Amino acid sequence: MADLQSIVDGIYSDLTPRLGEGKVADYIPELAKVDPKQFGMAIATVDGQLFTVGDAATPFSIQSISKVFMLTLALGKVGEAVWNRVGREPSGSAFNSIVQLEHEHGIPRNPFINAGAIAVTDIVLAGYQPKEAIGEYLRFMRMLADDDAITIDGKVARSENETGYRNFALANFMRGFGNLHHPAEHVLGVYFHQCALSITCTQLARAGLFLAAEGKNPLTGHSVVSAKRARRINALMLTCGHYDGSGDFAFRVGLPGKSGVGGGILAVAPGKASIAVWSPGLNKVGNSLLGSVALEMLAARTGWSVFAGHGSESRA
Ligand code: DON
Repeated sequence: MADLQSIVDGIYSDLTPRLGEGKVADYIPELAKVDPKQFGMAIATVDGQLFTVGDAATPFSIQSISKVFMLTLALGKVGEAVWNRVGREPSGSAFNSIVQLEHEHGIPRNPFINAGAIAVTDIVLAGYQPKEAIGEYLRFMRMLADDDAITIDGKVARSENETGYRNFALANFMRGFGNLHHPAEHVLGVYFHQCALSITCTQLARAGLFLAAEGKNPLTGHSVVSAKRARRINALMLTCGHYDGSGDFAFRVGLPGKSGVGGGILAVAPGKASIAVWSPGLNKVGNSLLGSVALEMLAARTGWSVFAGHGSESRA
């Protein structure tokens, strides 16, 4: 395998002619202002190295990638009881779909579609004021990335609060089924702030590293979750992390991954590295278009697909 820096440099130069492809999310007005011609990538390896390229130091809106970290907090708080509130099956539908919720009596399919993430946020909120829950999440993200410069963009949170009609519908619908224990306004206040976290590829790759290293952050020595829990979170990312594009992402990339409408994707190569990629243009199912292509190239050039077998470094 060529060294990782030349691999990421190669991916960046191969993608440079395509910068700007895809469509920036515009249903959150503040996100529509982002320059689409940006691309960054960062790889944090379990042995402590960091490889970056392009706009890896530019902050972007974490959006749905936050769902992985809030799930981690919820599991820490109530353990397996999370699964009484939310399922573990791919949805096969859009991230903000409401149709399945009625059939399934207000229990969302998985923690990564919006409805499931809202239920998870409700779990994290228990016993707290919304501000305290947001503070707990922000401290967790700073601890994981080992970087206190990470902040929440209040403008993005407000923008979504003013236009998030579908999320209010999902939350109220679940409250009607008894699967939301706090007022929708409180839960969504936390949810919109968690999604509005500003983070760079470098910070995100570092924050996700515990998932690649059996639950332990090798940079800080912190034990974040058990090895079993890290494995299970990875399994959910692989099967549900890209909504209705999850099957295609597994087919093309073969790594657990979680996307956000800010254009970011966090991918995990277990035992090897955590990878963050960001490019704001999205494909039809709301996942970063060039980010997915970049990860497909990375998986092919490193042999890191979880389906490739141990020690395999096949390149095609
Ligand atoms: O709730 C929303 O619609 C956004 N805050 C997050 C959606 C999202 O990132 C979907 N990911 N691709």
